[in-house]
Amino acid sequence: MTKQTKNEEQDNSEVPRHIAIVMDGNGRWAKKRILPRTAGHQAGVKAVQKVLKRCGERGVDVLTLFAFSSENWRRPVEEVHVLMELFVSTLEEQTETLHENGIRLRFIGDKSAFSEKLQQEISNSEEKTKNNSRLTLVIAANYGGRWDILQAAKKIARDVERGTISADSISLESIDSRLSFPDLPEPDLFIRTGGEYRISNFLLWQLAYTELYFTDTLWPDFNEKSLDLAIEAYAGRQRRFGYTSEQIESGYLKQEMAR
Ligand code: IPE
Ligand code: IPE
Ligand code: MG
Repeated sequence: MTKQTKNEEQDNSEVPRHIAIVMDGNGRWAKKRILPRTAGHQAGVKAVQKVLKRCGERGVDVLTLFAFSSENWRRPVEEVHVLMELFVSTLEEQTETLHENGIRLRFIGDKSAFSEKLQQEISNSEEKTKNNSRLTLVIAANYGGRWDILQAAKKIARDVERGTISADSISLESIDSRLSFPDLPEPDLFIRTGGEYRISNFLLWQLAYTELYFTDTLWPDFNEKSLDLAIEAYAGRQRRFGYTSEQIESGYLKQEMAR
């Protein structure tokens, strides 16, 4: 099955199975309070806890959070340093609670650029929570949508060199299955906080048919109610995947899926 049909399986259910969030606006939140930008990142961790809890209550299966982009290394070294420290301390403090709540933690992105300590914390938390199935929390760290497609392309090229696949047999599925989370459904709902209307190199391939939602709320102010509002907006959308609304309303998509 290709990812396109995987996404179509979600159909027009009221609650998205997979929500992906660009948590933006921490710096501006801090600036408004005459605090250092890093105070905004610390406040952002609290918003993550609220949203995660609400996702569990609403029956969301997967929550993917953009925590650090492959371009965020361009920021002042002190800010990058504080962010890395925050990742380590949050993992140390929160992994047990996540585990107790049945949450599986997964990381996507190029982990090789992180310190040994952070890489160790990441693999410990992934290992500890790997059998949990209530909700999967995916953290995109040193992640870029272009990087993801690039690494999939390299894997394909290697398989062609080895002769395990031929160039002519490369399909959408070949790319799909080599991306960062081939086993998870594609995001149904994308949320970006902080009032910017862009993807900023987050999931590029996987967002092809995702519903997009933008809010001016700065990430540290985003809470349970804000998430409910986003889910409500999602429930009011009609996902068409190229079909007409008449086809969707007559249950055509379900019949196609059943075939
Ligand atoms: C998002 O908030 C967090 C990260 C990118 C790590 P920002 O730090 O980008 O906040 P603004 O956009 O400067 O307000
Ligand atoms: C996107 O936010 C990355 C994360 C939220 C981690 P940015 O603040 O880095 O995005 P741009 O630079 O404004 O596009
Ligand atoms: Mg920003």
